[in-house]
Amino acid sequence: MKKTCETILECIGETPLLRLGRLKKDLGFDGDIYAKLDHLNPSFSKKDRIALGMVEAAERSGALKEGMPVIEMTSGNTGTGVALVCSAKGYRFICVMSVGNSVERVRMIRAFGGEVVLVDQAPGAVRGKVTGADLELVEQETERIVRETGGCFLNQFANAGNSLAQEQTAREIWGQSGGAVDAFADFVGTGGTFAGCAKGFKDIRQELHCYVVEPKGYAYYGGEVGAGGPGHRIQGGGYAKEMPLITPGLIDGCVSVSDEEAMGMTRALARVEGVFAGFSSGANIAAAVRLLKGQEKGRGIAVVINDCGLKYMSTDLY
Ligand SMILES: Cc1ncc(COP(=O)(O)O)c(C=O)c1O
Repeated sequence: MKKTCETILECIGETPLLRLGRLKKDLGFDGDIYAKLDHLNPSFSKKDRIALGMVEAAERSGALKEGMPVIEMTSGNTGTGVALVCSAKGYRFICVMSVGNSVERVRMIRAFGGEVVLVDQAPGAVRGKVTGADLELVEQETERIVRETGGCFLNQFANAGNSLAQEQTAREIWGQSGGAVDAFADFVGTGGTFAGCAKGFKDIRQELHCYVVEPKGYAYYGGEVGAGGPGHRIQGGGYAKEMPLITPGLIDGCVSVSDEEAMGMTRALARVEGVFAGFSSGANIAAAVRLLKGQEKGRGIAVVINDCGLKYMSTDLY
């Protein structure tokens, strides 16, 4: 057990790893799913890791100096992570996000003392379904705020500190599982978790298979993009466009998951395993189950539990 922490930042990472034995019995797949419980981080998502990584990298490089505001665009979890880090370090934080994301994240960011700028969705978009078009609007507004304030823009979509922080997640999973991982499946937003973990795993074991997980109909890497569709419900990613952090050599395969599969599996995870997570964690588990019933039969698959179910109480997930 860790000794007394001097700041909340020392409580980030080193989360438990859970083998999903009860789900295995229920669903009858052959092999094991190792779930990294990153919803147990201090602001209840995996993004606390990259928030700390990116802010400290900006401090080291001189891009972030005392008195400067920190600026980030986010679907919410990076925002809560950066808000937490800025609270603990004493920076002003301006967070730009789409109004289509859940309201819990906005309230959390404000609770940490962050300022939230909400950007309207593209014409015809649906609340709770954030698309690539919505993200472009968020990007434009962020650029305007960066120009006006002269703040330090972290830009998780292109910041190497994002994937670098997630390499550590892979090393933790490998160590905790005793090297029992043969494959990794991850729902992609910025691609930072996928790219970082894939690199971390492949540095240890080159032949470990890494699968990109995307929403059905919005699978850019899976080659089934449904341009102009009504959007999907798996908050935190599935933007159906190329992500700069993902380099092609890291991808061994792609799995696409429907809203219904993701939601059904998220609910099953809570009911059967006591893991209270959000939509994208269910997407990861649904993908892992499909792989264990197919080409990864009998093997060990690692996934990340991305965030906590409490962030979705305003939706119909639970
Ligand atoms: C809930 C959730 N799941 C998945 C992702 C995607 O993670 P990444 O940006 O590392 O691809 C995010 C990103 O914000 C997220 O908030």
